Amino acid sequence: MTARLAILRPDTSRHSNKTQTFGYERVLMIYRGCAMPDKPLKILITAGPTHEPIDRVRYIANRSSGAMGLALAAAARDAGCDVTLLLGPIGGAPPEAIRTIAYTSSHDLTSELDRCFKDCDVLIMAAAVADYRPRTYSDGKLPRTGQSMTIELEPVPDLVARCAADKRAEQRIVGFALEEPEVLRRRAAEKLQRKGLDAIVANPLKTMGSADIDATLILASGESLSPGVLPKDDFAKWLVEWIQSDG
Ligand code: C5P
Repeated sequence: MTARLAILRPDTSRHSNKTQTFGYERVLMIYRGCAMPDKPLKILITAGPTHEPIDRVRYIANRSSGAMGLALAAAARDAGCDVTLLLGPIGGAPPEAIRTIAYTSSHDLTSELDRCFKDCDVLIMAAAVADYRPRTYSDGKLPRTGQSMTIELEPVPDLVARCAADKRAEQRIVGFALEEPEVLRRRAAEKLQRKGLDAIVANPLKTMGSADIDATLILASGESLSPGVLPKDDFAKWLVEWIQSDG
């Protein structure tokens, strides 16, 4: 073990104004993070959508700004983790001082996960992977005919489930589930089981495009943790601290 220094800034999140214990828990979590072994935790984070090409111009995608994944990458970097970010097509410059590998389609993301997953301690799968992709690709631009057209879609393999099937005992995987509030907990818990994850962040549809997130972290043990409504940056810090303290 080595001593590490953590700079504690005043906690100005809305949540901390509500409960006095949050600050204390935060100090404990950071302390545990600081008392980590010499090797920093290797965290692999995926963020943003996948673009599934129809032709050279068009694609199918989920709506995703990548904001949550970017916030997680920054929080993990600031907490002293060794971060690799697999970043989808969100436009804009990659984040500073974070090893970033760009991907476009689910094919690319599959290759990068195949290459990077074995070297990480924790995978946080925040990418909004498309559920379906066109079965065929037209190399060029399909002409607009004015007639209706049919594009045959095939399911995109479940990438995080593939990683979970291959994972070593000491590796951990955190997924994300975005659902309507009425079915959120049940569907997120089902996904956690089905995909073989260690934890899943259940967040309601209204998270999309919002600066805040009202998420619940559901663990494989069945336990759940809800930090309340937080700005995405604060939620990212909370999740990274939980990951560091849970190890
Ligand atoms: O099944 P659903 O898309 O709601 O599950 C969300 C979780 O699964 C996210 O962590 C997402 O990154 C991951 N996922 C995946 N491969 C897919 C679809 C989703 O890894 N094809």
